[in-house]
Formats: sequence, C-alpha cells, structure tokens
Amino acid sequence: MAKIILTGDRPTGRLHVGHYAGSLKGRVELQNSGEYDKIFIMIADAQALTDNFDNPEKVRQNILEVALDYLSVGLDPAKSTLFIQSQISELTELTFFYMNLVTVSRLQRNPTVKSEIQMRNFEASIPVGFFCYPISQASDITAFKATTVPVGEDQLPMLEQTKEIVRTFNRIYGETLVEPDILLPKNKACLRLPGTDGKAKMSKSLGNCIYLADDEKTVEAKIKDMYTDPEHIRVTDPGHIEGNTVFTYLDAFSKPEHFAEYLPDYASLDELKEHYQKGGLGDVKIKKFLTKIMQEELAPIRARRKEYEKDIPAVYEILRKGSEAARAVAADTLSDVKKAMKIDYFADNELMKAQAEKYSDSQI
Ligand code: TRP
Repeated sequence: MAKIILTGDRPTGRLHVGHYAGSLKGRVELQNSGEYDKIFIMIADAQALTDNFDNPEKVRQNILEVALDYLSVGLDPAKSTLFIQSQISELTELTFFYMNLVTVSRLQRNPTVKSEIQMRNFEASIPVGFFCYPISQASDITAFKATTVPVGEDQLPMLEQTKEIVRTFNRIYGETLVEPDILLPKNKACLRLPGTDGKAKMSKSLGNCIYLADDEKTVEAKIKDMYTDPEHIRVTDPGHIEGNTVFTYLDAFSKPEHFAEYLPDYASLDELKEHYQKGGLGDVKIKKFLTKIMQEELAPIRARRKEYEKDIPAVYEILRKGSEAARAVAADTLSDVKKAMKIDYFADNELMKAQAEKYSDSQI
C-alpha cells in the first residue's frame, strides 16, 4: 500500500517553536527521508473558521504567514503538496456523508473538543460547525487516503474519531477508506513544549511563544525572560529540573555536539542537569546556552523566510498549484465514496439498464 502523509495547521497566527518541535521538524525529516509516496500539507482555513467565523480577515492574512513558515522550515513544494483546505470543496461533501456515521454524544466525549469549548466559552451555545470539526478532520485525512498523520499529541482524539469513521464506513459500505496512524515525535519534550512563561500551552494571547519568524534579538530577549525554577534564587541554591522551562527546551533541542561547541565544561545534558540540581549553576549560563542552540536552529529558517518574502506572488502560486493537485486526489476519493454509498447514479450504467428492464417487464 502507498505510504501517504497528510497533516496541517490552522491559519490563526504565525507558527512557533512548539509547532516546530511537535510536528514541523518531523515533517521535513519525513519529507526528506524519501520513504513516502505522497505528502500533503494543508492550511486548515475552513477549520480555523469554525471558531473564527466572525474574523475572516485574520484567517485570510495568516494563510500567507503559515505558508511562509512551512517553506522556511524546509517543506519543499517539489516534494510536498502544500494546499488550502477551503479550496477543496470535495472535503465538505465527504464531511456531510460522514456526519451520518457519528453521534452527538460521541462528539461531546471528544476531549479536545471538550477543552476547546471551555476555552472559547462556547458552553452555552456551541456552533454546529465547530462541534463537527472532528468529522471534517476525518474528511481531510481520508480524502487523501493518508496512512500517516504526523501531528502533536493534542490531536490524538481527532485521529481516534477518524479511525472510527473509517471502520464504520467500510463496514457499512465496503472497504473504501484507509485507516490512518498518528505519528508523534519520539522526543518526549517535543510532545508538548511549554510557553516561555512555563505555562503548559503556548498561545498568542498569553504572549509566551517564540515564533519561527522572530528575529535574533527577540529570541534572545524571550529566553532571557524564560521561566526557570522560582526556588533557585542564588546560584549556589540547588535547582529543580522538572517544570523548568529552560531544561525542557534543552531536552527538546540540544544535541550532544552542542556541548563541545558552546559549553565545553560539560560533557552532556545529564551532567549539566546534575550540576544545576546540586547547586552552583546559574540561570544566566543555561539561558545563554539555550539561546545559542535556538539561534543555530532558527537561523536557516529565518534566512529561507527572507528569500521567500521577496516573491510573495510565487508563494501564492505554490498554494494555487498545490490546491489544484490536492483537489484532483480528493475528487477521486469522493467518487469512490459515492460509488460505495450507491449515489453514483449517472456513472452507473448497470443501474439504468436494470431499472429500464424492470419497467419494460412490467409493461408486457
Ligand atoms: N486540527 C489541526 C490543528 O489544530 C489542523 C488540522 C485540520 C489537521 N485538519 C487536519 C491536522 C488533518 C492533521 C490532519 O492544528
């Protein structure tokens, strides 16, 4: 069976290092591994509109920001199809058919939807579109017959929902859809990178994100202010590693060779942690080390962004072409789905013939 990747992001803001550690970096590695037959990367504007329906301009502006972030991390339009969700109307048709296969109570039990409803104060009146977005996400994934969905841990319930829809569809209408697998980052620290303030969630409204597009000075300043261990007041005090954002970022981004290059007094991250826990290692030192690592990681991303920013029409052209190619693939799946659901009336000559025969018999 062909190995196919589909994944995407909502265009509600620029992408940050949490997106990068949790998914983008892995996507580029998967892309360059050559192990996948097709890779689809989607800007999920229709999904973004399910909770930003009153702010279409925000979604519109962020299409380009996300596209620039994609290109700048190294997603390559020659290897991956980059496209915009709303331009593939077949996805909405699939969603409508899948709606028959999901109950309201099943959607209500989805933990991601549950917490998002709370976050957005939707409890009193949940927009139907928002409520159904897990079904629409199943359409995104199945339309491309994706086998692999590289996403962050928060998307696990969406994948579960998709698998259920696939199983139910195939059971009722016959083997048609492909059941996808989630692909999470191997590095535990990358699963859920905290904000610079130590809060579990990185979010624009909390102002605790390091963006891929941040310049060098901004990154330096954000790390300087990063949350560490509030009980580590004097350098000589013993410090805590757990819940210490600087160490979580070091877990996520440091490589053995960084020590020889930037901090030769320590052989490894374990040694650095040990010293910190014992006392005698200051926050300034670990923050400077992290800053060097982050700048090394982000410099090529920034440089590529600058290049793409010089030719914005070319970026739109990449998205237009990608959307066209993606649409053809989704149309093929939709036609399989319609056939399986027996709503391919005009494509099925046998049906017409049989019906005609039935009526000609009755006329004798
Ligand atoms: N829900 C994802 C997010 O919030 C975006 C998304 C939409 C997606 N459709 C998808 C991700 C399909 C993976 C597969 O970032």
